[in-house]
Amino acid sequence: MTLPIRPDLVGLEPYGAPQLEVTARLNVNENPYAPPNSVVDAIATAVRKAAEGLNRYPDRDFLSLRQDLAAYLAAESHVDFLEARNIWAANGSNEVMLHLHQAFGGPGRTVLSFAPTYSMYPEYARDTLTEYVTFPRSDDFTLDIDAAVAAIAETSPAMVIVASPNNPTGTALPLDQVEALLAAANEVEGGCVVVVDEAYAEFRRRGVPSAASLLPAHPNLAVSRTMSKAFALAGGRLGYLAAHEEFIDVLRVVRLPYHLSAVTQATACAALAHHRELQAQVDEIRAERDETVDWLRAQGYTVADTDANFALFGPFEDRERVFQGLLARGVLIRVTGPEGWLRVSIGTPQEMALFRSALLEVTA
Ligand SMILES: Cc1ncc(COP(=O)(O)O)c(C=O)c1O
Repeated sequence: MTLPIRPDLVGLEPYGAPQLEVTARLNVNENPYAPPNSVVDAIATAVRKAAEGLNRYPDRDFLSLRQDLAAYLAAESHVDFLEARNIWAANGSNEVMLHLHQAFGGPGRTVLSFAPTYSMYPEYARDTLTEYVTFPRSDDFTLDIDAAVAAIAETSPAMVIVASPNNPTGTALPLDQVEALLAAANEVEGGCVVVVDEAYAEFRRRGVPSAASLLPAHPNLAVSRTMSKAFALAGGRLGYLAAHEEFIDVLRVVRLPYHLSAVTQATACAALAHHRELQAQVDEIRAERDETVDWLRAQGYTVADTDANFALFGPFEDRERVFQGLLARGVLIRVTGPEGWLRVSIGTPQEMALFRSALLEVTA
């Protein structure tokens, strides 16, 4: 029997990093600290209450979750413009991104990004029959803003996506560069939206701003966040986005009805109510990151400046050998980024000590 598979999907493997039981899982930028018992109890209580009404479909517009997300993001990024109507959410920012592509992409349309960047971006484009185009970042992985502005003029994209901090490099985008992208987007015939993917925003170094502060003045800007990283809630699957109400209304058109289950909504609301406890280790992770970067540089590696909970380092002549050598010692990192580079997520001090000793052994 022949399955009528879309020709562009034939032979493709599903996306995903290895999920292995090892001592130090440092490959998908998770928060290494499990939620504390007090938060586990709060989530369990909220989910139990939601379970009493599971015969009914959930609130399609998840208004109380959107209110809680608006309040959190307004406080975190010092933007008082945000209300429930400015917030969208879905099952991870992966699904938020898919909604963006469904709303603004499609056949004959282009999405532009700057490589190296998050490896799921081409997949959202593929799945929505959108053309995905990248222009290269500078050697230090910052954006060459003149080249980026020229790329927008050249490709006339319907959407520009920039991750800040960027994955896999950790590079954050200065606000004047986001403003320059917005100005270039405003010149695109037919319109262009700019999406700043701030999945790792809470890990940014002091003084590094969030693009959320630009939201009031820019109806074609969206800032995407997730509870998967700083919130230690990757398993809860909750990503969200902030934008003007008209922007959100377009996303509401393409979502499946009831896409956020009552269990997900209850979990996320309970987690938001306890965001301080959940994020208690964010400062520790930032300090561990800075120490890891310093240590790697002291060993002679080049390390990209990072505002995220991971570091990209290299170069290695044979990065696969180093990856395998670390894995054999119980340390799982990620082969990603340009040839010769590796990415390590920041774990607990014990996990990072194991990473350091394993790397010294493998490269001795
Ligand atoms: C830049 C970036 N955006 C989005 C995501 C998706 O995260 P989630 O779907 O868990 O919210 C990730 C995950 O690693 C990421 O690195």
